[in-house]
Amino acid sequence: MDSSKKPILVIGSLNMDLVATAERLPDKGETILGKTFTTFPGGKGANQAVAAAKLGAAVTMSGCVGGDGFAGELRESLSGAGINISFVRTTDVSTGTALITVGNAGANTIVVIPGANNHCGREDVDQALAAFDRPGILMAQHEVPAATVEYAIRAAKRQGWTVVLNPAPARPVPEEVLGMVDIITPNETEAAILTGLKVESREEAAVAAARLLASGVKTVVVTLGAQGALCCTREGTFIIPAYPVTAVDTTAAGDAYTGALAAALSEEKPLAESLKFAAAAAALAVTKAGAQPALPWRREVDEFMADREDKA
Ligand code: ATP
Ligand code: RIB
Repeated sequence: MDSSKKPILVIGSLNMDLVATAERLPDKGETILGKTFTTFPGGKGANQAVAAAKLGAAVTMSGCVGGDGFAGELRESLSGAGINISFVRTTDVSTGTALITVGNAGANTIVVIPGANNHCGREDVDQALAAFDRPGILMAQHEVPAATVEYAIRAAKRQGWTVVLNPAPARPVPEEVLGMVDIITPNETEAAILTGLKVESREEAAVAAARLLASGVKTVVVTLGAQGALCCTREGTFIIPAYPVTAVDTTAAGDAYTGALAAALSEEKPLAESLKFAAAAAALAVTKAGAQPALPWRREVDEFMADREDKA
């Protein structure tokens, strides 16, 4: 392991994504004919782990799968990205799945069936944290039980870790827990649920971000899809533009963004530079189908950024 980089530990979900593509998303109650069906390794936790690892970070994944065929494929996807999977535990419950429909311009709807992810608990957190002899960056999301996420944040914080929370899917987080979060990366819906405020514009995102900052979060990054992201710290608020690309499938854009941000921070890159790097990784991710296979390697992001710099 490269000791010049802070280690990253992801406590989170692993899902097999069952993906249908269609000309457009169906309306409520409507049946339409689709175009393709594919399975892709996914899950917000695993996606963020893979995003960071493909960009060169030293990543360990902690989470739960079932004893079924999906589990093997999910483990292989993580190992293929160079992730330590010693803390991916097999349970007697089915592996998590996500039913995804991708419509035009990459828009999607997702239903997640957590399965084994609901069994990720305190013992998984304790065992994984105990494997480290120095603190690094803890990444958590909302596809494992809230009690596990909160326990992980408290335990990691006590041991001096930097805590990155991607609060997806949306659910409220107690103020006391928010106070232990170093970086939070909600999209607009998640920012609205966290604050109880309407978040449908940059201005409203700035108000919600300020509210989260007042709760004790050190850095708030509200992602705004193709509009980029808004970063708010005690030093000020700034916009990180998205890179213009043709979106094919936006599944895991947020995972690519948060994983890349953590990878850059694990190399001690400054915040603004890390956010630009994250925007590049996420832009590349939306140009390809699926979750983990769409996440870019380091060389691809470096080349993309250099190319866009040349054209600027
Ligand atoms: P998802 O739930 O689909 O994983 P999200 O809602 O968590 O995504 P978004 O705000 O949609 O996250 O996207 C995260 C980041 O990805 C954005 O801040 C932006 O930098 C990048 N991004 C998303 N969509 C596009 C797009 N169409 N073109 C370029 N960049 C994009
Ligand atoms: O963020 C994208 C992920 O959300 C998908 O891979 C799917 O598994 C759901 O968890």
